Amino acid sequence: GDGDSAASAQQIKAVEFVKDGSVRQLLSELVAESLKTTFPDLAKNVAPVVVPCNNAAFGDYQCNNAMALFAQVKGKNSNFKNPRAVGEAIMKNLPETPLIETTSIAGPGFINIKLSKSWLEQRLEMILQDGLNSWAPVLPVKRVVVDFSSPNIAKEMHVGHLRSTIIGDCISRMYEFCKVEVLRRNHVGDWGTQFGMLIQSLFEQNPDWMNQGDQAIGDLQNFYKAAKVRFDQDPEFKERAQQAVVRLQGGDEQSRLAWKRICEISRKEFQEIYDKLHVQIEEKGESFYNPLIPSVLDQLNEKGLTEMSEGALCIFVPGHNVPLIVRKSDGGFNYASTDLAALWYRMKTEKAEHVIYVTDVGQSSHFAMVFKAAEMAGWLEEVQDDGDVEGRDEDGASGYAAVAANNGKLEGKKEKSKVQLRHVGFGLVLGSDGKRFRTRSTEVVRLADLLDEAKNRSQVEIRQRLEERGDLKNWTEEEMEHAAKAVGYGAVKYADLKVNRLTNYTFSFEQMLDTRGNTAVYLLYAHARICSIIRKSGKDVEELVSEAGVLRLEHPMERQLALCLVRFSDVVESAINDLLPNQVCEYLYDLSCKFTDFYSTCNVIGSPEERSRLLICEVTARVMRMCFQLLGITPLYRL
Ligand code: ARG
Repeated sequence: GDGDSAASAQQIKAVEFVKDGSVRQLLSELVAESLKTTFPDLAKNVAPVVVPCNNAAFGDYQCNNAMALFAQVKGKNSNFKNPRAVGEAIMKNLPETPLIETTSIAGPGFINIKLSKSWLEQRLEMILQDGLNSWAPVLPVKRVVVDFSSPNIAKEMHVGHLRSTIIGDCISRMYEFCKVEVLRRNHVGDWGTQFGMLIQSLFEQNPDWMNQGDQAIGDLQNFYKAAKVRFDQDPEFKERAQQAVVRLQGGDEQSRLAWKRICEISRKEFQEIYDKLHVQIEEKGESFYNPLIPSVLDQLNEKGLTEMSEGALCIFVPGHNVPLIVRKSDGGFNYASTDLAALWYRMKTEKAEHVIYVTDVGQSSHFAMVFKAAEMAGWLEEVQDDGDVEGRDEDGASGYAAVAANNGKLEGKKEKSKVQLRHVGFGLVLGSDGKRFRTRSTEVVRLADLLDEAKNRSQVEIRQRLEERGDLKNWTEEEMEHAAKAVGYGAVKYADLKVNRLTNYTFSFEQMLDTRGNTAVYLLYAHARICSIIRKSGKDVEELVSEAGVLRLEHPMERQLALCLVRFSDVVESAINDLLPNQVCEYLYDLSCKFTDFYSTCNVIGSPEERSRLLICEVTARVMRMCFQLLGITPLYRL
């Protein structure tokens, strides 16, 4: 049986000190080694389960493999009497390592792991010397598509698109931090029937539009509204608009030019928002995929997936009441056919291994059907994992409802891995009246105005605080503007990211700009305060950093803070698995609380431990900045 070989202590070999990856990943590798020794026959099918300890008094991390393993081996000629004995064997066979100080068994077989003080000290010094990048969790994926923002041309870009922009940007940043190539895609709605009425209106109202530049259209939203009114009220215009669509889609040159002009105007407006928020995104709109649709549909037809129903071409997806319509009865393509073609392109041409869609939860059944259709077509089977990424556990991903298709599970190592399709759904933004967020009763909020208001309010408050402190004279107008943007836009982003994306949240300037509580303002102040402690010390941190062995963790509050700091990459790993940016926010807030605990019990400036503690301050500031970076928030060094 498996149990017998457990005893041979000779098999225990010291594992080389690996520095890349999250702490959880490093510990998982050690557990994997032990499992190989303890259960040579089973180990390759068992993923190490290592999680932070529930109770800090017992340890820092815990390994939970024993219970499930006992269930597998019991009765089968094994020497293990209970799960606790399994836990003890795994614990005993853990390789020699500088990571771990002590281990102990709790309850039915949990292995508690306490990290070693000197390893923690080294790890923190490593951040100071090499930066945080070598800590990035190792992900079993090289290229992903993140489809986010994706407003519709000529229609308004609303707060839903703002949420998509903020969440999608954060997810992209997290993957990028893990050295995964991200194709940030703006799937703008630039190919609907709405263009018929827009182009027709333009031609009829402004025969000279070609020579008038953007003036010919004026405010695009008003232009859209007027065209829509006419379309709904004037049947003859409607007729002409429908013919215009046909001409546009047939490639008529004049129509194409008009279409381009309209798209250009929208694009400028969208870009204004992306520039403010420092969001990088590349447009590949619906029109881009249009030429691919016929061949993709042919392919699905050949596989026998499609059926005609009431004149429309449909895919009936098990578990859904309505079919996925992929060609309308008038022969036109739609949102779903475009998404199928886009998905095909992303997987086959762009070779993305994960494709992530960030939209409101209202679209989850659309995506569930598209994903299922792709699965039925056999599209997902064909990506080969190089197998060079190890230590991925099976239970890393959560079962969130919004994680469709493969249920968000990352595949085990060295297996042929499927492409992963995930819908990242989010809830509504509400106004103070509890209804969908709008400025006035009917008008939709103009996003640029919203961002400006956040910035202006921040500016007023920053100015006031500086005045109170008598510090105003030390700030230039540019510095003030820079700070107001960081605080204002940061507040909008953070308010959005800090809630679990599936829940609705209420938009409130007062709340998001509160200097106390879990807000960007509070966190930006917290970071600036740490920077000011370092400045006030008058010490050259770079010099301290270059000297090895200065950082010491003697006080319990120092250790508590250090532990929180080294968990940073665990958090990123988990936030990516679950595609939940709020985990990074929770971490950042927790970190700033742990820093406060440390700072209120441990003297820094002028204390005998000053040099070490300044370094602890510096690491904290750097980890905070990395969190800000992942959240897309600009850090401030004084405030
Ligand atoms: N334009 C769509 C909307 O405003 C979002 C597009 C999302 N992406 C996609 N591939 N369907 O709701």
